[in-house]
Amino acid sequence: MTASIIDGKAFAAGLRDTVAGHVAALAADHGLVPGLAVVLVGEDPASQVYVRSKGKMTVEVGMRSFEHRLAADTDEATLLKVIHDLNNDPEVHGILVQLPLPDHLDSDLVINAIDPAKDVDGFHISNVGLLATGQKAMVPCTPLGCLLMLRAHHGNLSGMEAVVIGRSNIVGKPMAQLLLGESCTVTIAHSRTRDLPGVVRRADIVVAAVGRAQMVPGDWIKPGATVIDVGINRIDAGEGKTRLVGDVDFDSAAAVAGAITPVPGGVGPMTIACLLANTVTACCRANG
Ligand code: GUN
Repeated sequence: MTASIIDGKAFAAGLRDTVAGHVAALAADHGLVPGLAVVLVGEDPASQVYVRSKGKMTVEVGMRSFEHRLAADTDEATLLKVIHDLNNDPEVHGILVQLPLPDHLDSDLVINAIDPAKDVDGFHISNVGLLATGQKAMVPCTPLGCLLMLRAHHGNLSGMEAVVIGRSNIVGKPMAQLLLGESCTVTIAHSRTRDLPGVVRRADIVVAAVGRAQMVPGDWIKPGATVIDVGINRIDAGEGKTRLVGDVDFDSAAAVAGAITPVPGGVGPMTIACLLANTVTACCRANG
């Protein structure tokens, strides 16, 4: 293996310490305690794990955590009323509605009902527009975590060739906007891209966010490139066991890349740390 490992777990622990320091200072200097509300509709097991973990880490850094668990058959009006009340609650500075929502609910409508100033996911159409036009926005947590690791590893990203694989609203598109903001030359590749291996081979920075286990092999990677693997896929590991892998085939990619994030322990921990950081930012902005 030639690549250095970008240790997202350690990086996230450092960021959470920084957040905890800001939270302590807000309490001491202004009597403020940032609050994060998480809304979960239904019983999706993966979402329940995420929500529990978010609540635990929110409390660990000294913030208030509010959880709203609603039945899977909750109607739109009920959910919108919960969001309306959170928008008007001065103790709540950040609101996150866990996705995916059950099919009968319109995610766009629900997300756009959140006060943009409390939209710590950065999914509200106002924040999407602010990010796209280079203005001060709430930035989606997963791409923000990727960017912080890239900045820490490289310093200046200006002029680098970046290829983002995946065009989701949650990761691919905002990731591309952030890299563009760093003056990278950005390509968004996706399932219809012609010659995907050739496109990826141009990249100094590869961000893989497609949700397909190990689909990017090492021979797509330019020697020395930095690989950020956003994928979290559970695969069969034999003997009735499963294991987590990314969208990148780690072993073959690590043999050629300059640096790579592991799965688990790469991007995942950074997402929650950035959510906590966004909540502190929202609290500071709300209080001038
Ligand atoms: N589901 C998977 N990732 C996310 C995320 O970043 N935010 C929310 N709200 N739901 C998610």
